[in-house]
Amino acid sequence: MQFIDLQKQYKHLKTRIDKRIQTVLDHGKYILGPEVKELEERLSDFVGVKHSIGVANGTDALQLALMALDVGPGDAVFTTTFTFFATAEVISLVGAHPVFVDIDAQTYNIDPDLLDKAIERVATEGKYAPKAVISVDLFGLPADYDAISAIAGKHGLKIIEDAAQGFGGSINGKMAGSFGDIATTSFFPAKPLGCYGDGGAVFTNNDELAEKVISLRVHGKGVDKYDNIRIGLNSRLDTIQAAILLEKLAEFPREMELRQSVAGRYDAALHNQFHIPFVPDGYVSSWAQYTIRPIKGPREGYMTQLKESSIPTTVYYGKNMHEQTAFSFLNHQCDSFPIADEISRAVFSLPMHPYLDYLEQCEVSSILTRDKINFGSTSEK
Ligand SMILES: Cc1ncc(COP(=O)(O)O)c(C=O)c1O
Repeated sequence: MQFIDLQKQYKHLKTRIDKRIQTVLDHGKYILGPEVKELEERLSDFVGVKHSIGVANGTDALQLALMALDVGPGDAVFTTTFTFFATAEVISLVGAHPVFVDIDAQTYNIDPDLLDKAIERVATEGKYAPKAVISVDLFGLPADYDAISAIAGKHGLKIIEDAAQGFGGSINGKMAGSFGDIATTSFFPAKPLGCYGDGGAVFTNNDELAEKVISLRVHGKGVDKYDNIRIGLNSRLDTIQAAILLEKLAEFPREMELRQSVAGRYDAALHNQFHIPFVPDGYVSSWAQYTIRPIKGPREGYMTQLKESSIPTTVYYGKNMHEQTAFSFLNHQCDSFPIADEISRAVFSLPMHPYLDYLEQCEVSSILTRDKINFGSTSEK
């Protein structure tokens, strides 16, 4: 069993994807070819934003967003401690000061009340100027943008939505990637919308920010790439990756429905013995991961049982940002993030993808619950 089965997806889309790649090979416009523009337009329609800008990966997308907002030395940027390293890494890359915030025990996303307190503390200390918050849509669930927007508004901070995992999720019909001043996503192959290499995008409704990101992704270009008006990066989305993404995006709404069915079946089978993912009313998760916590006992026993049946599991994330060696210079007190510490020691993620076989899912659930799980007849798939 695969944790994320990209081969099954490819088999399903093979004819369409192969044709798209061949078209690129025929026209030969490998850098910022017509497929990139077409994809950017389709992404804007899907996410519901004015501008989508294809870039080289989700990490660059975050860095470009910070650069477009002129975040740099002397600025404090607030983010969750329970995330992938890239979210925090970019803050240091632009020379700003990262401030980590503990998470909500139910959603695992940044706790808005603690965010508010952290901003007040940093403002009072006066060493760094609170400038922005990077909120992460962890495991596919959008963060609490009502609360985060109110807090950011009160303190005059910009919001960057890290929707690397959240793409496809929504809150009351408003899509992930459309929250905050600027948002980013990753097309890393394992993401809800993934390509066949590295890729990412920046989303915004702000014309000025969009113009800056378009310049920054090509060495800070002015009228052309030999006219350089600011320091930038080389961070363009490949034309071949855009071509692949065009077909995957066309299929994405159907895949999102399949993901909801897979998550629903896990929920039904596991809720008595595990803390299953919490999805607040009005929210839709894109199920980048299906992550659970045992109600009793350590995760290791369950993970070993699954492993003995060749079923892969992964721990996202065993080490919080405040525990990373790279951030030891921040001198965190070891009891400052009690919720993230507890959650990171208890969670593990199960195989999750739109093509997860119905019987495979029965097997995973049966091993975890020691019950014989049968979700019904295969025709109900
Ligand atoms: C929350 C989050 N932010 C940023 C990234 C970085 O994306 P990429 O791997 O495309 O650079 C990832 C990717 O794993 C992620 O999960």
